[in-house]
Amino acid sequence: MATNKQITKSDFRNGGGILILDFGSQYNQLIARRVRELGVYSEILPFDTDVQNILARRPSGIILSGGPSSVFAADANLTSKEIYELGIPVFGICYGMQLTTHLLGGEVTQGKIGEYGKSIFIKDSEHTLLHNIPEKSTVWMSHFDEVSRLPEGFVQFGHTSACIAGIANDEKGIYATQFHPEVAHTEYGKQIIENFVFKICKAKKNWDLSDYIDTSIENIRNMVGNQRVILGLSGGVDSSVAAMLIHKAIGDQLTCIFVDTGLLRKDEGKSVMVTYGAHYKMNIKHIDASKAFLSALKGVSEPEQKRKIIGREFVKVFDNEANKIKDASFLAQGTIYPDVIESKSAKGGPSATIKSHHNVGGLPEKMHLELLEPLKELFKDEVRALGLQLGIPEKMIMRHPFPGPGLGIRILGEVDKEKVQILQKADAIFIEELYRHDLYNKVSQAFVVLLPVKSVGVMGDERTYEYTAVIRSANTMDFMTAVWSRLPYDFLDLVSTRIINEVKGINRVAYDISSKPPATIEWE
Ligand code: XMP
Repeated sequence: MATNKQITKSDFRNGGGILILDFGSQYNQLIARRVRELGVYSEILPFDTDVQNILARRPSGIILSGGPSSVFAADANLTSKEIYELGIPVFGICYGMQLTTHLLGGEVTQGKIGEYGKSIFIKDSEHTLLHNIPEKSTVWMSHFDEVSRLPEGFVQFGHTSACIAGIANDEKGIYATQFHPEVAHTEYGKQIIENFVFKICKAKKNWDLSDYIDTSIENIRNMVGNQRVILGLSGGVDSSVAAMLIHKAIGDQLTCIFVDTGLLRKDEGKSVMVTYGAHYKMNIKHIDASKAFLSALKGVSEPEQKRKIIGREFVKVFDNEANKIKDASFLAQGTIYPDVIESKSAKGGPSATIKSHHNVGGLPEKMHLELLEPLKELFKDEVRALGLQLGIPEKMIMRHPFPGPGLGIRILGEVDKEKVQILQKADAIFIEELYRHDLYNKVSQAFVVLLPVKSVGVMGDERTYEYTAVIRSANTMDFMTAVWSRLPYDFLDLVSTRIINEVKGINRVAYDISSKPPATIEWE
């Protein structure tokens, strides 16, 4: 692979990347990922980004994503017709194809039944976009409206039994497919994207993760000089990778603050200190604030109130510690690309929720700290790959997400020290068995929830009256929707038996078989 230096946003302006205009499809980030996998930088911008802004980036190609909108809707997401006149190849996907047709004078009609899931795509003619693709192949469809008449100058190069599935205007460099090439179910999807990126856009490879470390280190050193940086280390993937990268760049100029809320998983505090403190010799302040958190939570059982208290307490503790580092000029954060993609169409998205607690609200303004966010251009799997390259153990890199409020929202109702300890033990057993049975990496997020419900049981000859634990395991792509994991019965049996036998305080285990929606992954 060509090894140009890391492409930053400013490099993008020097040309070469593939720009994705976001019309709200849930697959948008996949498009960007597919392009980056090809070694070409790609960026996602809102659908109504103005042409000047697009031109300033000098992209080698533009992709119009799919989206939930219909061109017939009064408030349809439209783009300026000018983007078809820039001399930059344009590829419309799904809604992007309907929009292109609609804007350029063709006709879109409302389909009668829609077409969802797998379909067979049949080539009508050879086309550069279809290079190396057989006459018939499986594609992924998700649409109701369809193109019924092509705009002038366009040809149809493929169809399915339900619709016109591929059109092009070679002279103007405009291409479109009704199916989603970015989705894995589209058999030759990667090839189609590759054909667009290299054969049509003639993009040059300019994105290589292995160079990212060197370039980032250089950037961080230039930016920070001999000043000090503070980082809130949570033990999660993003903050850990950011910390490792910054530490590699500036060593002890970085101070990490690790707030132990007392609501962490079993031995989590210890393992963060051993890995990053003892092993990698990072400068970490381990703040044991568990007493403060537990006392602030005393008597509180309403979930939102608990979340607010934990968030407030976190800021208080972090703020207090950060203030002690008098000469700090930067606040580093493990912000990643999905957190900063500005979407006009998607409502909130998972990152909006996920980061609410961790973004240490208002701190930089108050403390006059400049933000340092070295992972801001990376997707989660790129961050993981980078973490591995930096030497973080795979087990830590592949860990399931853990919510900021921690066990505080997995102990339903009032939280106390005893319940925290009970839950930590039960959760550790579940996770240990998932690893042992090679299931941990096959589920997206797994944990135990402690209910404040006591029920009667019998152990030996004695009647017990103890808490109920719930095993929760979910499989998901984006954490916005999820299904419960189909874990084997024998495995569940083993986990249940171990928890009841080994954890004093629990005498009943249930398995959560609710999907999201309507349930959420967490219980509070
Ligand atoms: P829900 O329960 O909304 O969770 O289905 C979706 C994902 O978000 C995580 N989550 C959080 N993460 N702070 C976080 O950092 C939070 O307050 C928070 N609440 C939920 C949850 O663990 C799951 O991965």
